[in-house]
Amino acid sequence: MDMVTPVGHPDPLLAGLRAKLGGAAVLTGGDVPARNGNDWSASLPQTPLAVIRPLDAQGVAEAIATCRQARLPFVPQGGLTGLCRGAAPEAGWVAISLERMTGIEEIDPASMTMTVKAGTPLETIQKAADEAGFFFPLDLGSRGSCAIGGNLSTNAGGNRVIRYGMTRELVLGLEVVLPDGTIITSLNKLMKNNAGYDLKHLFIGSEGTLGIITRVVLKLFPKPRSTMAALCALQDYDAVVALLGAARSGLGPLLSAFEVMWPDYWDVITTRAGVKPPVAAGRGLYVLVEAQGTDESVDAPRFQAWLEELMERGLLVDAAVAQSLAQTQAFWRVRDICAEFGHVLGPHISYDIGLAVARMDAFATRCKAALADGIKGCESVYYGHIGDGNLHLVSWVTGLPVEQQPKEAMDEIIYGLVRELGGSVSAEHGIGTLKKKWLGHARSEPEIALMRTLKAALDPDHLLNPGKVI
Ligand code: FAD
Ligand code: LAC
Ligand code: ZN
Repeated sequence: MDMVTPVGHPDPLLAGLRAKLGGAAVLTGGDVPARNGNDWSASLPQTPLAVIRPLDAQGVAEAIATCRQARLPFVPQGGLTGLCRGAAPEAGWVAISLERMTGIEEIDPASMTMTVKAGTPLETIQKAADEAGFFFPLDLGSRGSCAIGGNLSTNAGGNRVIRYGMTRELVLGLEVVLPDGTIITSLNKLMKNNAGYDLKHLFIGSEGTLGIITRVVLKLFPKPRSTMAALCALQDYDAVVALLGAARSGLGPLLSAFEVMWPDYWDVITTRAGVKPPVAAGRGLYVLVEAQGTDESVDAPRFQAWLEELMERGLLVDAAVAQSLAQTQAFWRVRDICAEFGHVLGPHISYDIGLAVARMDAFATRCKAALADGIKGCESVYYGHIGDGNLHLVSWVTGLPVEQQPKEAMDEIIYGLVRELGGSVSAEHGIGTLKKKWLGHARSEPEIALMRTLKAALDPDHLLNPGKVI
């Protein structure tokens, strides 16, 4: 590992890098785009000293060498849709953006793998898989903007975890540039490879603190030949848990999503976001159930019969079954509309709780009351990937700008309850800086100490995304 010796003012070093990588690769001063100052979280942006946009791993290594020489902290950036400031720079840092590192390098039908550059948007990957006759199951509301390198770095979850697992389970290999500039090319395509440590898992979910991912080998899956979706209205949460059990046993491996919306979420989307409800509004909870199979002629009638039986048993108050792809998309719009909460609610804080399925409703009820009682004017709504034990909530005080939202007080209440109910402060979004204070609610001291040991081993100078996560 080379020694870090600052050699002076960063400007000549950045100019030298520009000469090597080309003018479009190094943006400084007034050319630094505002978007590189923050991720999607409700927090104040900071302007980086420079944005470096390499085209490949070698370019990333060159960028890192320059940052090390100038002793400038550097942060990897994908699509900047993260929700906890993981990709946000501090003032004076360098942002290394993967935005020009896009494209599908290879689709291998026999191995059922796809090799992609790490800046490729998730939606591009989904479409490329589809066009090649396969399916790539990772799916999030930010699909059009997030990049696969960001998905790996946050170990993103999303809508189909219940069937396909989190991002970690969809990756076979990767290429990564270490904080000292070493390029590790480990583009494994083998399903089984127990030759030593499986190093990719060190970088998946570490939020850009251990290395910069530049290429990825993804698993592909057979393309579903049938997709069935139903929006169900239920009386209470006990009925939701019963429906989840019925979906697991009745739909078996076809079950591909189980998304729950509490009545407050439904109220907001139908009254304030202008969504036309596909089922009548009531006082209960709403569940979007999706199943994917291999034969439309068999799967669709079975799905319909399964739902009818649940209606007859009285488990469902109401249900609408999608009769077309357009209707399936309209059902998903009900769930994806939370992406527009910024416009609908104004500044708000997003939470991402991991909890036992059985405790979700107790948490939602107690949390809503505690926030309303403890913080003047505080409102909150609840929804999430409940089949995966992942509850989202957003909370806000109407009319306050983001910097005046009482985030600390909300955190105290919410994470206090998470600890009491034995949950996690992050099910899928990660820690970044916004949840760093609360990491100890979900991980033990020895676990955090080991994280620090790994960080120090790979980045002893603490120049790669310092101060994030731990
Ligand atoms: P960024 O925000 O750019 O970066 C995220 C983190 O990864 C940062 O720490 C950054 O430094 C690091 N990073 C980025 N690229 C690299 C790289 N190449 N190498 C190393 N580190 C890197 N998340 C979910 O898990 N499930 C959801 O259902 C979900 N839904 C969302 C819906 C909306 C509307 C929005 C706005 C966000 C949602 N998210 C969700 C959060 C976010 O989209 C994901 O965390 C996504 O994986 C981030 O990808 P990105 O490319 O935008 O990463
Ligand atoms: C979602 C994001 C917030 O599931 O994770 O909508
Ligand atoms: Zn989510």
